[in-house]
Parts: sequence; structure tokens; C-alpha cells
Amino acid sequence: MPHISPHIAQLHILHLEDSLPDHALLVREFQKSATPVQIERVERLDQFADALVRTDFDVVLADYRLAGFTALDAWQVMRDRKIRLPFVLLSGAIGESLAVQAIQAGISDYLPKQDLHKVRSVTQRAIESHRILIAKERADTELAQSEQQLARFAEHLQTTIEQERGAIAREIHDDVGGALAAIRFDLAWLARHTGDTQTLQHIGAATEMLQQAIEAAQRIMMNLRPAILDQGLVAAIQWLQANFSRRCGVRATLDAQLVMEALPKNVELTVFRTAQEALTNISKHAKCSAVDIRLSSDSNYLTLEISDNGQGMTHATPSQQGGFGLKGLQERAKTVGGWIDISSIPNAGTAITLTIPLAQEAQSAP
Ligand SMILES: Nc1ncnc2c1ncn2[C@@H]1O[C@H](COP(=O)(O)OP(=O)(O)OP(=O)(O)O)[C@@H](O)[C@H]1O
Ligand SMILES: [Mg+2]
Repeated sequence: MPHISPHIAQLHILHLEDSLPDHALLVREFQKSATPVQIERVERLDQFADALVRTDFDVVLADYRLAGFTALDAWQVMRDRKIRLPFVLLSGAIGESLAVQAIQAGISDYLPKQDLHKVRSVTQRAIESHRILIAKERADTELAQSEQQLARFAEHLQTTIEQERGAIAREIHDDVGGALAAIRFDLAWLARHTGDTQTLQHIGAATEMLQQAIEAAQRIMMNLRPAILDQGLVAAIQWLQANFSRRCGVRATLDAQLVMEALPKNVELTVFRTAQEALTNISKHAKCSAVDIRLSSDSNYLTLEISDNGQGMTHATPSQQGGFGLKGLQERAKTVGGWIDISSIPNAGTAITLTIPLAQEAQSAP
């Protein structure tokens, strides 16, 4: 048997009823209740509206047919004033279909007057369901809000990270790059001004190391701020693919079929960062011998799929692992209206697919 909510010390009922005997019957029914009950009766719509504003009620019990209006009008008054209370119809005069219609309109429950002995339990049930409904609505709103906040935060984070990466890349370029260029200049000068074979050998070795350092600095800069994107998305992915193969010794193929020439910058960057993280994951986790990268688009969608033939994900869901790479990609994809699909088969490999709707991008572009 449901209880009237424990936080209700006194049950406050608004009774919309123009028959005094019926009101008296209701009062008598509630006198049997263990919880103290206060019942206020109104019979006109304006009284009803006033009472709602004046007092906090726990529930409205309403006769269906009243002088010049029905309970549905009272219900509408409540809705117009955005007052939300459990609302139970008490009536003998309405048919089943009207009762159904009332409940469809959002009215909590319907009790025929001849069943008045059930009014307390019906009221309790209506209050309880209403409380659950409101709590659920509140939880849904809070969840939606926090999801929105998370998405905004992720977007902010991505922007900050990209800016920070750009700044670091510039510093490497200006400071490290500048110093390396100066060393190269000096080594060349030394080579021109010495005839000593041993010194020349050392200069040769130093120049070789220097070349490696210059290439490393360029690679690091490129990873931080993919200037290669200026040459187009395909060139940038090619660059990632070549780098990956060279560094990991794993064969990687690229099949790129883009119908769009120019894509929005944030879409390109999302695709680039997704490919970058997917390839990094493969080098860290996959233990594979081959990687396929497919980049394709039609006028509606752009798709990037990166699959490997490695060991597959060893955890049921990637989120069970502590990593943030894939989570970050999901959030990043959302910022351009896209999404990430992950499929993985043990000992057969993993595929990460990024899909971005392009039509929507074009529509939302200024
Ligand atoms: N290609 C893959 N093959 C096998 N397992 C993978 C692959 N990609 C991801 N995983 C698994 O999914 C997990 C989550 O990946 P995610 O990129 O989110 O995290 P991470 O790489 O471990 O850490 P982070 O990216 O934050 O440095 C990984 O720890 C790994 O177990
Ligand atoms: Mg990762």
C-alpha cells in the first residue's frame, strides 16, 4: 500500500465541487486518514484560480461537471499558470471515453463517485506518481544541462589545446629551429675552413645528427600544428600515413576519394586529429601488421575509417580503460556534428570510423 509521501506532515487538498453533500462525503472519507488532512472547497473557476495562487496544495480533487465549466477548464487554468499539481477527477457523470481523454490531457487519475471509498488510496497514488514524474523531469533537465556543459567544455578544451599546440610549435620553430639553422651555418663554415680529415669527419657526423634533429623538430611541429593541412586534407593524411609506416614499420594503405575540394577548417582538423589518435593507438595497442585508411565523401557525409588487423580491444568497452584518446575524439566529433563508431573483434582487429555530415555543416556555415 503506497504511503502519502513521508515529507507531507499535513495533506492539503483543494476540492473543486459545487455539491455540499458530495463535499461532506469526501471530508468524511479523509477523516479516516492517519495523516492530518485539510480540505478547501471551491466551486467557481475564479475561486479555484485564487486558491491555487494563495495556498500550496498537495493535490486537486475535482468534480467533472460544474456550473458553466468542467474540470478540464480548471485543468487548463492550472496549466496556463504553470502550476503543477496532481489532479484527480471525481465524478459520476462522465463516461469512460471522457475519462480517457482527461487522462491523456495529463490529468493524474479518475475515480467514479460511487467508488469514493477508494479516494484516499487514489489520492496517495496520484501524489506519488506526480512526485516521481517531477523528479524524473528534473533529473532529465539536469542531465541535459550537464551534457550540454560537458560538450561546451570539451569544445573549449579542444580550442585551448589547439592554441597551445600552435604556440609550442611557434616556439620550436623560432627558438629551436633558429638555433639549429645557426649551427648548420657554423658547421658549414668550419667545413670550408679546415683541411684536417679527422675534423672534417667529425663535422660530417655532426651535420648528419643535426639533419636528424632538424627533421625531428619539423615532425614535432607538424604534429603540433599541422601546417600540412594547408596543402589539403588528403596531403595531411598521406603525411600521417607515411610517418606512421616509417616509424612503426607497419604497412599502411590510404584510399582517399573526396568529392569536396575545400572543407571547413574545423572539419579538416577533426579528421586530422582523429587519424592521428587512431594511428597512435594502433602503434601503442594493436600489435598489427597492416593498417587501412579510407577517406571518402559524397555531398552529404565525410567518412574516415582506420582499421588494423591487430589483437582487437581487450576490454569490453574502451571506456573501461583509463585512456582519454577515444573519449576526446567522440567529443571532438560532436563539435562538428559528427560521431565516432568503434568496432573491434578479438584477434581480428579494430576499426574506428568518423562520420561528419557535410550538408549540415554547409547549412550552419555563415
Ligand atoms: N587499435 C587498437 N587496437 C587494440 N586496442 C585498442 C586500439 N585502440 C584503442 N584500443 C584500446 O582502447 C583503449 C582506449 O583507447 P584511448 O585512446 O581512449 O586510450 P589510451 O590510448 O590508452 O590513452 P590516451 O589516448 O589517453 O593516451 C586503449 O587503452 C586500448 O586498450
Ligand atoms: Mg589513445
